[in-house]
Amino acid sequence: MISVRILILGGTRFVGYTLLERAIRAGWEATSFSRGMSGLPPADVRVVQGDRLNKRDLERLAVAGPWDAVVDTSGFVPRDVLMACEYLRPATAHYVFVSTVSVYRGWPKEPLSESSEVLYCPIDAGPDYGEDVEDGPTKYGYQKSGCELAATSSFGLERCTILRPGVILGPREYIGRLPWWLRRTALGGHVLAPGNPARFIQPIDVRDLADFTLLAISQPLAGTYNITAPQNRDTFGQMLQACVEVTGSAAKLAWIPDEKLVAAGVRQWSQLPLWRTSRGVWQVDSTKAQGYGLSSRRIQDTVADTWEWMKSEEMLLTDQRSAEIGINPDLERWILNQLTGK
Ligand SMILES: NC(=O)c1ccc[n+]([C@@H]2O[C@H](COP(=O)([O-])OP(=O)(O)OC[C@H]3O[C@@H](n4cnc5c(N)ncnc54)[C@H](OP(=O)(O)O)[C@@H]3O)[C@@H](O)[C@H]2O)c1
Repeated sequence: MISVRILILGGTRFVGYTLLERAIRAGWEATSFSRGMSGLPPADVRVVQGDRLNKRDLERLAVAGPWDAVVDTSGFVPRDVLMACEYLRPATAHYVFVSTVSVYRGWPKEPLSESSEVLYCPIDAGPDYGEDVEDGPTKYGYQKSGCELAATSSFGLERCTILRPGVILGPREYIGRLPWWLRRTALGGHVLAPGNPARFIQPIDVRDLADFTLLAISQPLAGTYNITAPQNRDTFGQMLQACVEVTGSAAKLAWIPDEKLVAAGVRQWSQLPLWRTSRGVWQVDSTKAQGYGLSSRRIQDTVADTWEWMKSEEMLLTDQRSAEIGINPDLERWILNQLTGK
């Protein structure tokens, strides 16, 4: 077996942690670089502690190499990514940048593929570049686009892989989108279920994203790849039904049409997590990555494993990001009562 040496920039949370777990399982030599503020990486991972914004820390990190590939899961500001690339270029053959579908100008309004127009942001932009537009481009998207450009300018297209995931779910999802639905359905009663149960969704499971990343490194695969579950396969209804089933709850899903929720002023995306009416949200073409081996488990498996993780980590009582994620129980009851009499 050939052992691959990888460095993960940010290996202690969701995506980075999962990448490290799966790299170690594959027999790879894995190093994690983080400040030590967000916990520890998995066992058997070599740790280099430091801040990616600090030049001395990056210098120290570079001499801990070399690596076959660096995976940047924690780059959000172009000039910071550029700096990390400049320090790490002599120490690695390949750079993988974890970006997002938010780099597309048309997200979430239009169907997208890798050839869709991308927001422009200079490679040395600071954190203030870009703007948030209602139901359109975000500062986050502009910034990530500049980060992509920083990585490809520094490493060259041949030595760089850009991954653009849509929503990522699965064990360790700390944003709390799927965990909120699981907690809510576990509580039982009538659950306000948004829109049409037949609406297709395409979240990618974090483990499938990680496996594709390792595949891209081992080939290596340069280029840009959308990373989502296939279009027109899994539905919102399947996701919520799975939440009811795995939690063993007697919850009853009360489906309310989009227009009524919009009229009631329910905040999309966060108040009822993952519910969004824009046409392009779940129309991202990831057939390119699928053609190179991206596989995507069914939403029911993601739901079941996330619930298992929540139970094992005593996540049931924690409600991270509660201010942003989830609808207030009184408002939910009021809407259900007004619209369905339940
Ligand atoms: N969640 C989604 O649905 C989604 C969708 C599309 C794309 N993405 C992308 O996926 C990527 C991974 O997201 P994530 O949620 O797993 O991770 P994250 O929260 O963005 O990254 C956290 C990791 O980076 C480390 N870190 C943060 N600041 C650092 C610094 N200054 N120096 C060194 N290490 C630092 C953290 O450890 P310490 O705090 O200990 O330093 C931690 O290990 C992100 O780039 C995001 O844009 C996410």
